[in-house]
This record gives sequence, structure tokens and C-alpha cells, in this order.
Amino acid sequence: MRVLSVASECAPLVKTGGLADVAGALPAALAPLDVDMRVLLPGYPQVVSYLTDHRQIARLDALQGGPAEILSAELAGLRVFVLHAPHLFDRDGGIYLGPDGTDWPDNPQRFAALARAGAEIARGLLPGWAPDLVHCHDWQAGLVPYYLKKSGIDVASILTIHNIAFQGLAAADLMEPLELDPADFTSEGFEYWGHVSFLKAGLVWADGISTVSPTYAHELMLPEFGMGLDGLMRHRADDLHGILNGIDETAWNPAQNDHAISYRTERGKARATTALRRELGLPDNDGTLAVVISRLTEQKGLDLLIEALPDFLDRGGQIALLGTGEARIERAWRDAAATHESVAVRIGYDEILSHKMIAGGQAIIVPSRFEPCGLTQLYGLRYGTIPVVAHTGGLADTVIDANDAALKTGVATGLSFMPGSRDSLAHALRRLVVLRGNRDTWSRMVRNAMRHPVGWGESAEQYLDLYRSVVRPL
Ligand code: ADP
Ligand code: GLC
Repeated sequence: MRVLSVASECAPLVKTGGLADVAGALPAALAPLDVDMRVLLPGYPQVVSYLTDHRQIARLDALQGGPAEILSAELAGLRVFVLHAPHLFDRDGGIYLGPDGTDWPDNPQRFAALARAGAEIARGLLPGWAPDLVHCHDWQAGLVPYYLKKSGIDVASILTIHNIAFQGLAAADLMEPLELDPADFTSEGFEYWGHVSFLKAGLVWADGISTVSPTYAHELMLPEFGMGLDGLMRHRADDLHGILNGIDETAWNPAQNDHAISYRTERGKARATTALRRELGLPDNDGTLAVVISRLTEQKGLDLLIEALPDFLDRGGQIALLGTGEARIERAWRDAAATHESVAVRIGYDEILSHKMIAGGQAIIVPSRFEPCGLTQLYGLRYGTIPVVAHTGGLADTVIDANDAALKTGVATGLSFMPGSRDSLAHALRRLVVLRGNRDTWSRMVRNAMRHPVGWGESAEQYLDLYRSVVRPL
């Protein structure tokens, strides 16, 4: 089966979050199942800079106000199509945000262009390759299913929701330039509180919908999580599938990786912990070292962790945080580091340090208010770095809480607590310290965690089943 994956980011070429990891991992995960997946990506400068050996394979003369071409290349083991449209993508700044930290004003045009290019590839624009199915990721690819249906292109589509909080809203007066039919500006169509919603267009017109964990699939149908689209999600319940993300088990392998922090045993782990403490300037004592690697946004609940800090630190806890995001959250963590010698904070994006932290931490905290899947708790499991997670979305699906029953039967892999509750988080951290004090129980949990499957195997099969269920027979 040939699948075109349309994504606004794709690791290792360009990444702001887990979406990139997933878009980058799916082609290799599906290849053994005979899926030939190619990824269509915007030609941001960082993507174009990778292009040394590529072919121009198609032109689109007037795409959202300028000429565009589609380049084909093999980059970092991925077969990609790059939408080279300098008027939309060749600029300094973030991939979604300008230098002032707000959305690029022409984001609707930029990602409508991406979607139009995806639809034209499905129509057969490229010599020698056309997909049987288009797999669209998040709002940035949300218009693909709409364009396919409205342009009479008989190719099936799947839309994956990585995070329903991002809906891709555009002003209603952009309908004409975005090639959207005003007749569809209704509550059954793409209208969302007086705006055009790219995500909603995808959710209405895609043949199938998936999201990145079974629990989030249920949550999306509830008003607390659906962000105004829960009614639509209930309406499409039969077409909505929760398929858990996996991780790249080569990049995240405690026994062998590029960052000189390999280990297989508890002693090896202890060495990684000491090295991390030294690198971050944390006291080298026997306290429990918990790490956080995260975008610093409201979703991630790190304000709750700040509130729970004093209690954890009093019990000998240490925290190392790596992240970037909203200025007020960055400031709060910088202040925490200045106040407490047992808190180390690195503001920035740092792939190597993130590996050292997962390797050296004894626990990883993910206190999200909601979390479609989450990847860092999966890294934690693989490295025997015990996850302490809010019981929501994919966090609930991947971590088995160390309650009495789970401890007795020996299946516990981490700790979970009530999302949004500072007290419940503080309590989980207290339990963490107690568990670490019990050598046998702790070792058993670490072993369980490291055995927990976190790869793509089963999920890749589920994607294939989903693809097969919507691809139209020849
Ligand atoms: P989200 O996509 O909501 O940000 P995920 O847990 O799915 O959450 O994915 C986040 C990804 O980004 C993980 O691979 C994580 O390691 C990485 N990441 C987040 N912040 C940083 C950072 N400051 N430095 C390095 N990697 C980071
Ligand atoms: C989103 C979600 C995260 C998920 C990632 C990849 O960014 O916030 O939970 O793991 O997408 O699907």
C-alpha cells in the first residue's frame, strides 16, 4: 500500500514536539508491513538545508500567492516530498511562530498550501508515484480531506489528532483565497464559533480518524477534553480509533546509544545518575532525582509541580528540568532553581541533555492536565526511570500505578495521580520517595518498567488495519 503522510514537522529534520517523532517514525514502523509511506513536508529553511541530492518533480504555479515546486529526496532514511514555496516557508523564525512569539499571520495560507499540495499528489501530480491513502496529521494537514472530497479526488484519508487544543482557526473572510466553499461554513461543516477551523474540516471530511492513545480517544468525546469538538467526536465515534504512539527504540536505547551513557545494570544506572548530578551541579547525595523534559505550556501542568516542590525537596528529592515555552513558566522555574540548591533548570531545547536526563534520572514526572499520548514517560520506562504521571490520556494507558494490588502482583511500572491536583501530585511524590527506600520493591519496579513494550510493533499493525478499512478497493 502507498501512503502519503502529510505533516508540518518530522524528526529528525524539523521538530517542536512529539508530532515530529511520530511522523518521523511511522514510515520505518510500517515498512515491514509493506506500506510505502512518503512524507510531505513544508520547505522550511532547516528542511531545505538538508537537501543536497534531490529532484524537482512537479511545479504548482500559483499556490497561495506564489510559485511552488515539489522536491523529492531521501533524507535521514526518510523518503520525503518537500513543498518548496519560498513565499510561504523561507523565513527566519519558528515554523509556526514569528520572531515576536505569535503565530505567523499567514499560517492559514501556509498550511492550506501544504494541504492543497497533498491533495494534488493524491490526484496524481507526481510522475511514478501516487498514494492509495493520505494520512494527515493535526490541523496543519486538516484541509487535505476537504480538498480531496471537494475536488472529486477519489483517494481515502485518515486524520490523526495529536492534540485537539490546536485547531487551526482562520478568519471567515479567508474562505475564498483558501478555496473553501462558503456553503460549508456551517456547524456541520468547518465553521467553529464564527471562524474556519482546519482541524474540524479534517474531522468532518476524513474517512477515518485516529488519535494517539485509546484513553484520549474516549476523552475527546467528553466536554472537558473535546475543546468544543466533543459533539463531533461523539458523532464520529465509530470512525475514531485510539492507537498508542511508540518510540524510536534505537535512538532511545539504554544499552547502546550515541551519548556515552549506556547501561544495562543498576550499577550502570547509578553511574549515569552521578554524572547527571555533576553536569547539572546538583548535590551528590542519596536523594531521589526526578527529571522533567517538556514544552513549558499550561497543558503540561508544571505549575502544579512547582507548588508540590517544597514537600518533595524536604524529603530529599531533587528535580532537574529541561524545557522551553511560555515566558512566565520559564521564569517560575528559573526562580525555583535560584531558591533551591536541589533544583536544576535548563531552559532550551537539547537532545543530548534530554538523553542524559532520561538515563540519569531515577524518576520522570509528567504532570499534564491532559496528554494525548506523551513520549517522555515511554523513554522513562525503557530506561528504568520510573514515570510519575497524571492519570490522563496516553499517560493512563502506559503506566501501571504502584498501588498495593499492583505491587503484590508485581506489575507496577510507575506512579499515577489525579490530573490537575497539586495535592495528589505531592502525595505521589511522597510515595515515590517511600518506594525508593525499599530496595527490592524498587528494583522490581525498575525491571518491570524496562520490560514494558514501548515500540511500534502492535500500533503499526493497528494503523495498517485502519488504512485497510478505508482504502477503496480497486
Ligand atoms: P508534546 O508533543 O506535547 O510536546 P510529547 O511527550 O509527545 O509531548 O513529545 C515531546 C518530545 O519533545 C519528546 O521527544 C521530548 O523528549 C522532546 N522535548 C520536549 N522538550 C524538549 C527539550 N527542551 N529538549 C529536548 N527535547 C525535548
Ligand atoms: C502531541 C501531544 C502528545 C503526543 C504527541 C505525538 O503533541 O501533546 O501527547 O505524544 O502529539 O502524538
